[in-house]
Formats: sequence, C-alpha cells, structure tokens
Amino acid sequence: MNRFPAYISLDDRPVLIIGGGASALAKARLMVTAGATLTVIGEKLSRETKSALKGKARLIERAPVVADIEASVLVFITEGANDQVERWVEAARIAGVLVNVVDRPEYCDFTTPSIIDRGRVTVSISTDGAAPVLGRKLRADIEALLPSKVGSLADFADQYRDAVKSKINESERRQFWERFFEGPIAAQVLTGDEAGAHEAMLALINGPASEAREGVVHIVGAGPGDPDLLTIKALRLLQRADVILYDRLVSDDILALARRDAERFYVGKAKANHAVPQDEIEARLVAFAREGKMVVRLKGGDPFIFGRGGEELETVRAAGIPVFTTPGITAAAGCAAAANMALTHRDHSQAVTFVTGHAKGEGEPDLDWSALAALKNTLVVYMGVSKADSIGAKLIAHGREASTPVAVIEKGTRADQKIIKGTLGQLGQLIDAGSVIGPALLVIGEVAALADGETLLAIAQKERLVA
Ligand SMILES: C[S@@+](CC[C@H](N)C(=O)[O-])C[C@H]1O[C@@H](n2cnc3c(N)ncnc32)[C@H](O)[C@@H]1O
Repeated sequence: MNRFPAYISLDDRPVLIIGGGASALAKARLMVTAGATLTVIGEKLSRETKSALKGKARLIERAPVVADIEASVLVFITEGANDQVERWVEAARIAGVLVNVVDRPEYCDFTTPSIIDRGRVTVSISTDGAAPVLGRKLRADIEALLPSKVGSLADFADQYRDAVKSKINESERRQFWERFFEGPIAAQVLTGDEAGAHEAMLALINGPASEAREGVVHIVGAGPGDPDLLTIKALRLLQRADVILYDRLVSDDILALARRDAERFYVGKAKANHAVPQDEIEARLVAFAREGKMVVRLKGGDPFIFGRGGEELETVRAAGIPVFTTPGITAAAGCAAAANMALTHRDHSQAVTFVTGHAKGEGEPDLDWSALAALKNTLVVYMGVSKADSIGAKLIAHGREASTPVAVIEKGTRADQKIIKGTLGQLGQLIDAGSVIGPALLVIGEVAALADGETLLAIAQKERLVA
C-alpha cells in the first residue's frame, strides 16, 4: 500500500479548484457531492463549468493567488504552465494544505479514487495512479455486485443500533447483525419494502431470540444458459447463498459463479424421470430456511414461465417463510436473441403466445389447437421436441398453413446452440435432420423466416460434403 485510504469530512470546509475546463468541472462535481464549500478559480472558466456550478460554487475568473490556496483545506490544480503549477504546489506545502495536481502524481499529496457512491455506503478503488482504466473497470465490476439500495440498508440498520444495543447482549450482538444482513428483513429493505421491513424488525427485536435465526428463500431465474445473461441481482444472490437447489437446465458456468462454500443440491427433472419429486423439493426449501439459511432456488429461464416457481412460492409462503422472486430471461427471449429473430414484428406478427408441448404422462398436451392455429401470430412451444411431429400436424389440421415458417432452437444462447429452419409441414423432419434432443424451442410463425439458422437443404449439403 503506497497511500493510506481515509475518508475526509468536507462538510462546509473550503476546497479550491484551480482551472475552468472539463477536468476542473469533474473534480468540482465530486466536491459538491461531498458537501465542500467550493471555490473554482481560473483565468477562463468554460461555459459548461459556469452553468453546471452556478449557485453551487464560488466562480472567480482570474489567476489564483497564494491567499486563495492558504484559505483552503484541499486544492486541486487542473491546469497551468509548469512553473505556475510548481509555485502553487510550493505555496500549498508551506501553508500545510493538501494538494492534488491532475495527471501529475509526483506533485500529489493525495489522489482521488474511483468511487462507488451508495449514500452512506461508499467504496473507493485506487491503483495509486498506475492504471486508472483498471480502477474504473474494477469499479464497474464492484458496482454490479452492490445492490442499488445498500445505502438504504445502512441507514435502516443505523436507525436500530440503539434499540439492538439495549435489547441484545453484547456477546450476541455481532451474530445478530450478521444474521440480519443475510436475512429476510435486509432482503425486504433491498427490494424497497421499507415499511414491511420496519414492522418485521420491531417484531424481531421485541420477540424471542430464536426468531433472529429465520431463513429466507429466493426463487431465482438463471436465464437460458449463457452466464452473461444472468441478472445482476441473481448473481448477487448466488454469491450470498448458503444453499442452492438447482435444476437440470442450470449450466455449470452459472453454478461456477456461486459462493464457493455454498451447499449445492441438484434437484433437476428430466421428462418422466423426476430425480427429486416436486413436493420433496418444496419440503427441502422449507427445511433449509427453517435452519436459518439463505436458500436460493435456481431455475432455468424465468421461474414463473413453465417453471413451477409459483407452486414453490406458495408452499414456502404457506410455511410462513419469507420468499422473494428474481426473474430471469425466459428461453423464448434468449433464443430469439440468439437467432437474431424478433418474436413480434410490425410487418409479420402482432402477438406472441407461449405454450407447453409437454403433457402429464405420455399423452398429448391439452391445448386448444383451433384457437392456436387461428391466431396466425408467433407461437413458441416449450418442451415440444418429442411431440413436434404431432404438434405440426395438429396445427395444420386446424387451419395453419403447412408453409408457415418455423425455427427449432436447441440450447439457445449456449456455445453449442443449434438453429434449424423450415416450414410447419417439415417440423418432425427438422428435429430428425438436426438430431435435436433438447432443450429446444419450436418457434412457429412468419418471424421464424427471419432467424439465422440452417435449412434442411444446407444440412443435407453439409452431410454430403462430410460423406
Ligand atoms: C421446464 S421448461 C423451463 C422453462 C424456463 N422456466 C424458461 O423460462 O425458459 C424447459 C423448457 O424450456 C426450453 N428451454 C430452456 N432453456 C432453453 C434453451 N437454452 N434453448 C432452447 N430451449 C430452452 C425447452 O423447451 C425446455 O424443454
């Protein structure tokens, strides 16, 4: 560590910025946010500087003098010829005023870090002037991990510090706060439900000590497979989870992003091969939460689209355990983007319908085929691979043209995705020719003609070349 990081209170304290251009304005904005009494002096102040700082800083258009420097606690020098800068730095040193000269680390008593500002919570990153771009990149990475309401969480905790002190023994206090920040009340604050959080906090502080060990369940969408398509919130939850129960469609790349010491349980179901029955999954969610754990139920795509997320939510809620949902990118949206195909398009389709091709047992899905065929818009079939042939035949029998474009998208958004295009009349053939096993979507409608992908002809030609 070459420089010691410290947080300085600048509330109503005099800060001087020498210069009137973009660099001066950038520093000035920081100082205004920090509450400093700011003076900006330069022989020429730009129009932007004047208008942005009007009413927020004293703006003086002339060369600075030593008395300006002596009257300040911090000085930023953002412009000036070498000999001028040296004179100002010397004047600051004699007066004991800390000085920063932009892009001249050799003159700097202090540097300004990259800052993440969430109210009471701030994070600062310094590379000691060695690599400012790296500092900014790290800032972006950390920004993504910090909930936007983390400052409110700090304020919330502050409001209860005295109450917690008076109700909870010193020996248990630290543990109380650790559990609090991982628990459901903190989650409520972070989701913006402050009123509910206050109610729960009062009950917690005034109730029996055991309530402090309450767990929480987060039902989280993992998206269609590409880890970059996880939401920032899902990533944060994965990095805080004690226990993760995940499905078959959650990729290893996504699990690799989870907290290293989180317990992980595979509870996936292949069709007609339920590795862990649904009621057993729900029972485990409740049991882990009752142990006081932060449980993430991680599901492919979006939990509320053909994901049984609703059933799990109801069971957990009925057990009196706080439960929160984080949406994910559903397969239809992910696959459409992967194939560069809009699901609705003003020229081709005014609506999109999602259906499941899966039926309980081995039977046919219970769908209103004539209504679906009559829609003439985009139809996306989830879990339709094994019934693709009969789905195509039924739609045609109920009036949809056999020439309607279709796209079959397997493992969309993943490195090994496959997209095959053809017509509704060829649906079964497309699955066979592409050796599609799944997970795959069938997209039926005019928009499918827009998809990037291989036709039957292209597949046949490729096979001939290989043979
Ligand atoms: C049980 S459903 C879960 C859907 C999920 N909740 C969602 O919102 O995407 C599983 C089906 O989603 C579709 N699916 C999920 N991920 C997919 C992907 N990466 N590519 C194509 N289809 C996918 C397949 O039809 C698969 O059989």
